Formats: sequence, structure tokens, C-alpha cells
Amino acid sequence: MTTLSHDSTIAFLGGGNMAASLIGGLLSAGHAAENLRVAVRGAESVERLRLRFGVAATTQLADCVAGAGIVVLAVKPQQAADVLRGLQLAPGTVLISVAAGLRIETLRRWLGAAPTIVRAMPNTPALFGAGVTGAYLPPEAPATAKAQADALLRTAGATCWVEREELIDAVTALSGSGPAYYFLLTEILAEAGVSLGLDAATAEQLARLTFTGAATMLSETGIDAATLRAQVTSKGGTTEAAVAALESADLRRIFQTALVAAVDRARLRGDELAALA
Ligand SMILES: NC(=O)c1ccc[n+]([C@@H]2O[C@H](COP(=O)([O-])OP(=O)(O)OC[C@H]3O[C@@H](n4cnc5c(N)ncnc54)[C@H](OP(=O)(O)O)[C@@H]3O)[C@@H](O)[C@H]2O)c1
Repeated sequence: MTTLSHDSTIAFLGGGNMAASLIGGLLSAGHAAENLRVAVRGAESVERLRLRFGVAATTQLADCVAGAGIVVLAVKPQQAADVLRGLQLAPGTVLISVAAGLRIETLRRWLGAAPTIVRAMPNTPALFGAGVTGAYLPPEAPATAKAQADALLRTAGATCWVEREELIDAVTALSGSGPAYYFLLTEILAEAGVSLGLDAATAEQLARLTFTGAATMLSETGIDAATLRAQVTSKGGTTEAAVAALESADLRRIFQTALVAAVDRARLRGDELAALA
């Protein structure tokens, strides 16, 4: 597996939450701070990034990307047109866009010259190096671009590559929005505990630690979720009774409906951003 050369220059367009998680990950992985540059809008952000990471920060987009082999687009999707229009990227540059909903075709239109573009959809646990990113790059892109993007994105967690760009909408629905489903289920479990007589703080703690403990079992054992569930579901037991109630309430269909709603929203957002051009 190719790794990112620690002395390759990486430019970030945007220095907010997502850029910070990637920059932090790159520095932890041994990337030299002097080879990282960040462009932001305000002088306060320039100072914040310099102090926090020791990286070169600027409000000048052209200075930021000059000589960079990899450029990470990490501004809000609706800010991207202003940032990219008129920006000159050297031939051979790899642009990794983490901007939700922005399609490659839209990015190409704004960029004029067409670098290799990788689309990536991280999720918020990336802020703790525990994210999972869905990523896509067009089949004609050089293999080195995929290896470089993979190495960069892995500093924020795991990366799953998808074979068609529209599948990024499914990634958005599943893992992009997924942390919210987990938080919602934690809330629901705690509320159900309160309805059974537990005090709110105890119910919240039981729900939170049960889910994080179960997540640890999944990641530490490497055993799939269905098998782990079967292992804790004794015939005629309490878990079996609860799971049967969830299945008969059609929990699976409810989640399918939820993910379809998220995909529909992601497509609409992609259409709206494409119409900005
Ligand atoms: N946060 C997440 O968990 C997450 C997950 C998946 C995808 N994403 C994607 O990641 C992207 C960034 O999200 P975020 O949460 O990191 O946003 P954010 O915290 O709001 O950061 C946006 C950054 O862009 C900079 N910026 C805005 N306009 C600019 C301009 N014209 N020139 C230079 N810099 C400019 C801002 O500069 P100032 O600091 O000076 O304002 C700020 O540093 C979004 O497209 C989002 O869809 C985020």
C-alpha cells in the first residue's frame, strides 16, 4: 500500500473542523508541518491554525495551492464556487473534495483546468481519528492518486472506496449521517429506561456505555453484527423477546425508509449545487 510521502506538500482550502481533523491526523502520522498549508477567510483563523498546528496559514488561495501536489477542498459546499473559480492548479494536482454533495462534474466546471478529482465523504468521528470515509475517483484517474488520497483519508479513520459516484449519496445516508442514528438510538434507549423507572442520569449512562461497549465488541472481535447478536440472544430469553418486538414493529423497513430519505436529500443538494454554476 502506497503511503503519503511526508515531504509532499498538501494544501487545504478551508481550515475548519474537517480540515483540522485531517491536519491533526497527518501530523500524528509524521507528516511535516512545514509541508502543510491552509487557506482560510479570516485573520483569526490564520492565527488559530498557526498556533494549533504550526502550519502555514494564509488568506491567499493562490499562495496556498502553489506547488502543492494534493489540494484538499474543505470549505462548505456553498462556499466552494467562490474558492475554486479562477484558481489555477498545476497539471498533475490531485484535488480531494470532502464537500458534501458537490459532484465531480460541478467541480470540473468551476476549476476550468481539470486535475484528478477524488470525492470523499467523511463522518464526524474523523475528529477523533475514528471516522469512516466513503470515497470515489473516476476510473481514468491514475492509481497513484487513489493511493495518495487513501493514505491521506486514512489519517482520519478507515476508507471505503465505491465504484460509482452516485454511491457517495448512499455513503452519505449510511455513514455520513450514521452517527446521528446512533445518538438517536442512545436517546431512545435511555428514554425507554426512564419509562421503566430508572432515573434519567442512570438510564443515560447505561444506554451510552452499552452502545460504546457493544461497538468495542464489534471492532475488537471482528465478528459480524448478526453473529454477535445471535450470541447474546438466548432461546426464550429477554433479548429474544425484545428483538422480536423490534422486528415485528418493522425496524428494518423504518431504517430503509430513513436512508432513502437521506439519499433523496443528498441528490437534491447535489442538483442545487450543480445549478449554482
Ligand atoms: N464536519 C464534518 O463532520 C463533515 C463531515 C463530512 C463532510 N464535511 C464537509 O467538510 C467541509 C468543511 O466542513 P467543516 O465542518 O470543516 O466547515 P467549517 O468548520 O465551517 O470550515 C469551513 C472553512 O472554510 C473556510 N472558508 C470559507 N470560505 C472561504 C474562502 N472564500 N476562502 C478561504 N477559506 C474559506 C473557513 O475560513 P474561516 O475559518 O476563516 O471562516 C473555514 O476555515 C464541508 O464541505 C462539509 O460538507 C464535513
